[in-house]
Amino acid sequence: MHLKLNDEFLKPFVSLEELDGIEPEVKRAFSYVENENGPGNDFLGWKTLPLDYDKEEFDRIKKCADKIKQTGDVLVVVGIGGSYLGARAAIEFLYSQNYNALKDKTKVYFAGNTLSPESLNEILQLIDGKSWYLNIISKSGTTTEPSIAFRVLIEKLEKDFGKEALSERIIATTDKSRGALKQLCDEKGYETFVIPDNVGGRYSVLTAVGLLPMAVAGIDIDKVMSGAAQAVADFSDDSMNACNKYAAIRNLLYRKDKTVELFVSYEPSCLMLNEWLKQLFGESEGKDEKGIFPAGAIFSTDLHSLGQYIQEGKKQIFETVISYKTVDNDIIIKETEDNSDGLNFLADKKLSEINDIAKRATSIAHCNGGVPVIELEFEKRDEATLGYLFYFFERACGISAYISGVNPFNQPGVESYKKNMFALLGKEGFEELKEKLEKEF
Ligand code: PA5
Repeated sequence: MHLKLNDEFLKPFVSLEELDGIEPEVKRAFSYVENENGPGNDFLGWKTLPLDYDKEEFDRIKKCADKIKQTGDVLVVVGIGGSYLGARAAIEFLYSQNYNALKDKTKVYFAGNTLSPESLNEILQLIDGKSWYLNIISKSGTTTEPSIAFRVLIEKLEKDFGKEALSERIIATTDKSRGALKQLCDEKGYETFVIPDNVGGRYSVLTAVGLLPMAVAGIDIDKVMSGAAQAVADFSDDSMNACNKYAAIRNLLYRKDKTVELFVSYEPSCLMLNEWLKQLFGESEGKDEKGIFPAGAIFSTDLHSLGQYIQEGKKQIFETVISYKTVDNDIIIKETEDNSDGLNFLADKKLSEINDIAKRATSIAHCNGGVPVIELEFEKRDEATLGYLFYFFERACGISAYISGVNPFNQPGVESYKKNMFALLGKEGFEELKEKLEKEF
């Protein structure tokens, strides 16, 4: 496994002296992670997960996935945030956004990540008449969006297969002992998988949260874990390895008012990976009135929408471009006799070469236009790369947040809107807030 951090397009923005200068801060942040003595240190379970995972549960995940694949047409995965994005990012990264259109695959639909009736109704229609299973994922077991979807989908499951089939067709991924969902599972006898206490939602992709949906989609989860284990081996030292260096560069750029990180890929299959990254970094770093704002783009598609802003707009952006070297399914451009579209100069070129040149041309243009570009290049699109990449970013995010002086593992800010929502919906215990909000707004 190999990851190359190309700093060619950073040279005008970050000097070697600056990188040397920040090294002590990197070492301190690294030691918070390694020695587990920084803020949020009870949420560092992700750090050794690729080596220390529960092997018995891992086998149960594979067996459960086999049963769903053999007897089901569809798995509906209900969850939001960290209980949703990783699994979807993985499936789309290794297949594409069109995974569910592939023949001979168990379809995987995601529900409970919005409050949209249109979206939930669409899923109800898609599963109608199918043999389907339900994987509810929630660490707290009380999150509103998945809880509502779960309630609606249980009704459908009971209608489709009868009450007695519920314990066969519902699989819950939740806390080991706490929460309403865990209690319900114990009462009803649903199969459960565990989100370990010391692994937070956005760091949970390499637990059953991500692994069960991945396995149902036909992804070899042993290979995912071995890729992640390789990343543990590669980044568990405090040298300026790619992970520590990336964390350092992000902070140096932030200190120069580059406050927006645009995660970029030239492959549409990375669209949901960008979403996973947005959550990972946004929830980990955006606190205490600090933090890099994470955004995502797919190039060259978005060069035709955001390209103008990036090139000539406010100079607040830096890019992190994620790519892989080897492409499995290439296309060769053919020569035509009349050259009516004027493209014969591309004859015999692979489309992947053209995509690479678009990447290089864009990085040069953006760098010259005042936009620093960090390039992260992986070998190829496969399970091992996926596991490696998840671990690389989780670790880089923890180190980076510690460098910037915040607790990477909490998310106190997400409670504010929830409290208002409960108050406005008339939930018991929120009466005073309801009155206050209705007076003020
Ligand atoms: O990263 C996080 O902790 C959050 O994004 C959670 O994953 C998200 O809010 C869902 O929470 P839960 O799994 O408790 O339903």
